[in-house]
Amino acid sequence: MSNILQAPALQAFIACAENGWRRGWHERNGGNMSYRMTAAETDACRAYFDESDDWTPLGVHAPNLGGECFVVTGTGRYFQNIKQNPAENIGIAQLNPAGDAYRIVWGLTAGRVPTSEFPTHIMNHSVRVAVTEGKSRVIYHAHPVDVIALTFILPASAREFSRAFWQAMTECVVIFPEGVGFVPWMVCGGAEIALVTAKEMERFAAVIWAQHGIFCAGEDFDATFGMMHAIDKAAQIILKVMASGRPVLQTITDDNLRAIGEAFGLRVNEAFLGDV
Ligand code: 13P
Ligand code: ZN
Repeated sequence: MSNILQAPALQAFIACAENGWRRGWHERNGGNMSYRMTAAETDACRAYFDESDDWTPLGVHAPNLGGECFVVTGTGRYFQNIKQNPAENIGIAQLNPAGDAYRIVWGLTAGRVPTSEFPTHIMNHSVRVAVTEGKSRVIYHAHPVDVIALTFILPASAREFSRAFWQAMTECVVIFPEGVGFVPWMVCGGAEIALVTAKEMERFAAVIWAQHGIFCAGEDFDATFGMMHAIDKAAQIILKVMASGRPVLQTITDDNLRAIGEAFGLRVNEAFLGDV
């Protein structure tokens, strides 16, 4: 490898960011993404690392991620510029052995500061690694218009959002049979929202942030991007149906949802089915 940008993990990260930009999910510096590198990927990139920066406290603690490296977007950087200038807009952050501080070892040449949501990314990784037996690698935060719009008009709960998405499009319950999590409006960019979001990530791979956007987690870029895409599309359908002004004559019933679960061998979250 004559250039770190040839690393497949970096190439996949850049391609995913570009797809998000093309989808319209990343106005200005909106959104951020991180990828937990494998040991082999880290070793392959190590020749390009500069490990001389001081450690910066994270404000949160993820002992199960100590020493791991993450490809991450920079704070204030624009997704639209990542493909043209990766080294300026993304970087690699290494955690200290305790998992409570980081240093930039490559990239982010302008400022060397990861996204302001890095505490949320790290806590989400920490939880998702634990609940997926180490498989989860990508945390992706975006600002899809229609999902944000829905947070003004649907009841503010994981149950209501999950049911609305499941009923909007048959594939949704297949993609996220556990449902989606929900965080009411909070100040973003710090440890407090990181802890609240990570608590939701114990049960859900996608979490809505009211009046803000979504966080999705997944094993690879395709699965994570696909989750974001499916939720965005379901939100568009819900809003189109509402905007039609027509009464809903038929929908996907709870028994239909159970039948999909049986047909696909999935455990649909029973707590979100039936009346409460
Ligand atoms: P950053 O530029 O710090 O990544 O912030 C963007 C954002 O979406 C905050 O939630
Ligand atoms: Zn955001």
